[in-house]
Amino acid sequence: MSVKIDHFKGYEILDSRGRPTVMAKCYLSDGTMGKASVPSGASTGKAESVELRDGNLGRYAGLGCQKAVGHINQEINQAVSGLSFDQKELDHTLIRLDGTPNKGNLGANAILACSLAFAKACAIQQDLPLFKYFGGLLAANSFRLPRLTVNLFSGGKHAGGQVPIQDLLIVPISAMTVEQALSDLYKVYYSATDIIRKKYGMRTLTADEGGLAPSFNHIDEMLDTALESIEKAGFKPGQDIALAMDIASSHFYEGGKYHINEEKLTGMEQIALLSDWVAKYPIVSLEDGLAEDDWDHWPELNKKIGGKSLVLGDDLLCTQTSRIQKAIDTHSANALLLKVNQCGSITDALEAFKLAKSAGWQVTVSARSGETEDDWLADLAVGWSGNQIKVGSITQSERLAKYNRLLEIEKDHPEIKMAPWKY
Ligand code: PGA
Ligand code: ZN
Repeated sequence: MSVKIDHFKGYEILDSRGRPTVMAKCYLSDGTMGKASVPSGASTGKAESVELRDGNLGRYAGLGCQKAVGHINQEINQAVSGLSFDQKELDHTLIRLDGTPNKGNLGANAILACSLAFAKACAIQQDLPLFKYFGGLLAANSFRLPRLTVNLFSGGKHAGGQVPIQDLLIVPISAMTVEQALSDLYKVYYSATDIIRKKYGMRTLTADEGGLAPSFNHIDEMLDTALESIEKAGFKPGQDIALAMDIASSHFYEGGKYHINEEKLTGMEQIALLSDWVAKYPIVSLEDGLAEDDWDHWPELNKKIGGKSLVLGDDLLCTQTSRIQKAIDTHSANALLLKVNQCGSITDALEAFKLAKSAGWQVTVSARSGETEDDWLADLAVGWSGNQIKVGSITQSERLAKYNRLLEIEKDHPEIKMAPWKY
């Protein structure tokens, strides 16, 4: 359905790290307005679309978004004001206007803000909850609530690197509602804060996504403390609550070696380490176990652990169809981490989602470490029936905006259920 755009208005706003990001309002010709803001990563993949930054070091250390906002208010408006589009036509028009393969001209932040603001305006005009509008793009007529994968402990680039791996997540697998999953997670999170206070005698400092960041001496200590937290909260690890890891290993891969645990591991040694963890701990999802360019080793990792755990590609895939296709062809992964700002428009994300699904993969819909209070990601996860959602911990309002929206959808639409955990 084509909808006439009056104009867009861009804004520079701040994300959860206090860094600038982009918000856009889309005004349709009948006066309907939708507004949306885009997130921003810190542990970014090399193949991500360009987040346009001003580069003026005297202002926000060069991270300002005034150029991207200027592109919304000028070039984008000149190209689309007064014209009618559906979602795909608008996104393709913006991609053509940008003219680069990585959205480096207008900025993926500018394009995505407009793509999302248009989606929200259309949903309002059509009197649809946003998830149904997103579902319409996929011709979906049924919906699922995603399973939650939630940060418990953090390290790497999100927590000053006290352990090299980025996130240890907890996954409620016996809970069959968002409401139950969140109340289970609450117990585990606060049992972990108690344990850490006793063990490390410290206040529980948190990382960028709200994960706890005590000074673990070793990665196994992080894993063991997660199991202890689950048990102390009254759950059975692996039956009620499982574990997931985001290794984010591109960030400690140097000169063909993985610099982890004060060792320098080859690709095969890194695979052996990961396989041992998957054998010893109830890990159901393992993200970026290998580096984004280590294509030679990914098929072996997938072969070793793919029957037991999701082999999830984040930096590896960067939500780019060319990289997803390569991973499908080479059997390098079995799940996509879908981050919409890695590709920079709803239509690009939809193509990535469909491609992953066509190969029988699971999809984990993901936020970024720099987020805003906007909750569109929850609607996207439901609208496309993403298998999992990953938005950080259960503290901090930019994270809770998404969980709270899932709670709202669950209450308002009791016919929408959560699928059982598959692995
Ligand atoms: P990022 O981290 O948003 O900083 O990239 C999230 C992740 O790596 O999954
Ligand atoms: Zn990641």
